[in-house]
Amino acid sequence: MSHQIAKTAVDRENFFEPALFYQSAREGMRDFLTNVLPESHDGVLLPAFIGWSPNEGSGVFDPVGELGNHFGFYDLNPDLTADLEDLERNLSTGRYRVLVLIHYFGRTEPALSRVSELAQQYDVLLLEDLAHGFFSSVNGKDAGSFGQVRLFSLHKMFPLTQGGLITYSSQTLVKGQKSTMAELAVDIMSYNWDAIAAIRRANFAGLTERLKSLPEFGGKFQLLWPELGALDVPQTLPVRIFGDSRDNIYKCMNEDGLGMVSLYHTLIDHVRRDFDSMMDLSRHIINFPVHQDVRPESLDFLVSAFQARLND
Ligand SMILES: Cc1ncc(COP(=O)(O)O)c(C=O)c1O
Repeated sequence: MSHQIAKTAVDRENFFEPALFYQSAREGMRDFLTNVLPESHDGVLLPAFIGWSPNEGSGVFDPVGELGNHFGFYDLNPDLTADLEDLERNLSTGRYRVLVLIHYFGRTEPALSRVSELAQQYDVLLLEDLAHGFFSSVNGKDAGSFGQVRLFSLHKMFPLTQGGLITYSSQTLVKGQKSTMAELAVDIMSYNWDAIAAIRRANFAGLTERLKSLPEFGGKFQLLWPELGALDVPQTLPVRIFGDSRDNIYKCMNEDGLGMVSLYHTLIDHVRRDFDSMMDLSRHIINFPVHQDVRPESLDFLVSAFQARLND
């Protein structure tokens, strides 16, 4: 073995993980599927909580449906973590080549390492969908470090109208995929990621504390993500509303200029029949904004407005 050492690194393959930039995450997903899984029998297994809206379509599912790949869905627990039993049952059919794991709202899937083991055991590629988890991935050490493919929706996390990114764990997975928006890298590198992550985490913590202290907590609503992991960075703060007032809360708070989000208020048709608890959640979930433009001074107002609407 030679012990020669160059003055600077020269091995371009060492730790090389190709990054490809796109207008959106779904465009990157389409490029991946087209080039790496060109056969329709190359199945894609997805989690059962996938929304649809007339403006937004169905995100990660759009290219799967459009390209005609075989697809299926695995169930999730009520807090949107993976149901490992149902996941394994699906994988064991042998019909899939890719497993999509969504880190919902930026929370690192708690069973990520087990999910990765299952993917290896059944010989499928693990695609970590970090559409909501760019900052959890760059801030933490787990999210994004198990999958061979990682998908990011940058326009959801940065003040950009367009932006998606795919990174691959190895050059061998790039079989013709090409960036369509490589210049996006300049925008992304021009933001202070640590500062954004810190504000998002502080807003989440501040909201959680205020929400937990409301008398309506536990009776009229519940936190879907009660404890922020030490390294996670939230996209939004999800809450489950009991009863039928979600749509009214959403409408009134947005009319008042408070940017509540109702991600996945309507699920795609393919999961509507078979996944009752996901359907139920989609009717009751609402998400608080925690992004970098939300000022800590606004949190009291936001929570008071929520409380008032809960009691309308
Ligand atoms: C979990 C998830 N993955 C992927 C996407 C697709 O993101 P984009 O709008 O960048 O295509 C979305 C958003 O629709 C999403 O919520």
